[in-house]
Amino acid sequence: LDNGLALTPTMGWLHWERFMCNVDCALEPDNCVREELFMQMADRMVEDGWKDAGYEFVCIDDCWPARQRDAQGRLQADPARFPSGIKKLANYVHAKGLKLGIYSDVGTRTCAGYPGSLGHFETDAETFADWGVDLLKLDGCNVPNWTLLAEGYKNMSKALNQTGRGIVYSCEWPLYEWPYTQPNYTAIRDTCNQWRNSGDVYDSWSSVTGILDWAASHQKTITPAAGPGGWNDPDMLVLGNFGLSYDQQQTQMALWAMMAAPLIMSNDLRNICPRSRELLQNPHVIAVNQDPLGRQGVRVASAAGFELWERPLSRDRLALAVLNRQEIGGPRLFPLVLATLPSSSYCDPRCNVTQILPEYRELGVQDLFSKLLLQVNPTGTALITLTPLKKH
Ligand code: DGJ
Repeated sequence: LDNGLALTPTMGWLHWERFMCNVDCALEPDNCVREELFMQMADRMVEDGWKDAGYEFVCIDDCWPARQRDAQGRLQADPARFPSGIKKLANYVHAKGLKLGIYSDVGTRTCAGYPGSLGHFETDAETFADWGVDLLKLDGCNVPNWTLLAEGYKNMSKALNQTGRGIVYSCEWPLYEWPYTQPNYTAIRDTCNQWRNSGDVYDSWSSVTGILDWAASHQKTITPAAGPGGWNDPDMLVLGNFGLSYDQQQTQMALWAMMAAPLIMSNDLRNICPRSRELLQNPHVIAVNQDPLGRQGVRVASAAGFELWERPLSRDRLALAVLNRQEIGGPRLFPLVLATLPSSSYCDPRCNVTQILPEYRELGVQDLFSKLLLQVNPTGTALITLTPLKKH
């Protein structure tokens, strides 16, 4: 979407995967969806280095509104859980130099049954703009007929534009359309700043590999749409939760960087393991993700339990990820022969090789005949960059 926003993939935090629709604040005051949760995450984002690392958006997902619209037909926050209202929350977040994201649905109700925006696109866009909201995630549940998805997502896009406020627009249009038809990615890119294609991420390795396999098997269709202003969204980063080993967390981080994916964490920043935090804040991985060229990477080879992914970067560089999909045995060596790479030209005649993951290492100047042995743990990933050295 050409609204001047999301020129690199969005970075932030979203409550859904970790906190879901927990609205029982009497039972679980610290883990329910209420204003304190977002204020505390904003505090952590500033104090624990997240903001400095580039994470900017604090985002609310489903289950924030009251069950009914107000007398003027506007959405209102649940009065018990958001007694100060969303405008105050936006002020709080803005005072910290961060941005606030909110959530609605293109249908009659959200997936969790709260009021949806169908028939209220202009009112809701105006309400969000008036509150000072900076991002809208628009879900796609409860649409009376799937043909209304395209119309609804476009109408909300127009309504947001008409408010005059810069609001990043996060869609789920293709996800809900795929069961019926192949989505029109040109129209989606023209309408949205990012869009979900595949199912919800869970806190598990099978979920992460499922998303990667979906992306790889649809890469011809989806990658051309990605670029500054519009991104394929493989869903939240679940690093720092319960389901992924450290190697698997490296894989999610590395591959989300390769896919030019929005880096939207869903975890508890008040209580996160230092290694997960370090990985989520790794400046070299983030630099790959945020590369200004904005081209999404693809899976270029898959053999012997390894996957090779490539992503072209600005200044003629290339990022390479080697994923060890074998879930038995120990660390395995991947022989990287630069001459046989799909993009061998990067090292013709020579290139500089930098390893970013599993740990940062300068691998020095290499040529086409170099063979680098990369050691990759089961379910882990080695991430490297190639910088061509000019011909004399
Ligand atoms: C489905 C979406 O795909 C999820 O990301 C989340 O927003 C839930 N709905 C909320 O109900």
